[in-house]
Amino acid sequence: MPDTQPERQTLRQLIRQRRKSLTQAEQQAAAQQLVSRFQEHPGILAARRIALYLANDGELDPLPAIHWLWAQQKEVFLPVLHPFTPGHLLFLRYTATSPMTRNRYGIAEPELDVQQVVPHSMLDLICTPLVAFDATGNRLGMGGGYYDRTLACWHEHGLGPRPLGLAHDCQQVDAVPQEQWDVPLPQIITPSRCWHFA
Ligand SMILES: Nc1ncnc2c1ncn2[C@@H]1O[C@H](COP(=O)(O)OP(=O)(O)OP(=O)(O)O)[C@@H](O)[C@H]1O
Ligand SMILES: [Mg+2]
Repeated sequence: MPDTQPERQTLRQLIRQRRKSLTQAEQQAAAQQLVSRFQEHPGILAARRIALYLANDGELDPLPAIHWLWAQQKEVFLPVLHPFTPGHLLFLRYTATSPMTRNRYGIAEPELDVQQVVPHSMLDLICTPLVAFDATGNRLGMGGGYYDRTLACWHEHGLGPRPLGLAHDCQQVDAVPQEQWDVPLPQIITPSRCWHFA
């Protein structure tokens, strides 16, 4: 099997640079467009508990969408690095008053509080950030394998919450080289549209 790692690393750097070069005005406009996409998305409208993320590294910013979800009485959860199981995520309830901290990547996350942890199976939808995607839903992340692990059970057995990728339109590429552990996404929302792959 050919080693795809150099190709994946080059693609990561290229697309991370591309999204980081978006202006603040472009980022804000994209974040507002995401609210509109959420408002018309049946899966979002039907969900009660939704995992999202806080933007980092030029990612599409879900914060305005989170405020809209709160206004719709939906419960929002954020990923937290698992304290004991490296490479895994916990999902914690996120409200306007959640105490926050920074993880080892410098990303804001809710302070660990077991009462705020939700089992993955109780989430309706997991919105994943990503670095690059292609026209078949293949996903390249930041390289930690966190979402691949989180979604492995859904991918292999159809159990647990469905993933929904969120990305800027400029993160689409011709082809994302895939590895056996990568979980392709059935849907991706970009500011301009919703992509359906499965
Ligand atoms: N289900 C899994 N079980 C064990 N290891 C895994 C699993 N999924 C991914 N990994 C490991 O995680 C590492 C990083 O994977 P990869 O490069 O695909 O990350 P990514 O998809 O870019 O990151 P992320 O999922 O955090 O966005 C790889 O070394 C891979 O072996
Ligand atoms: Mg992967």
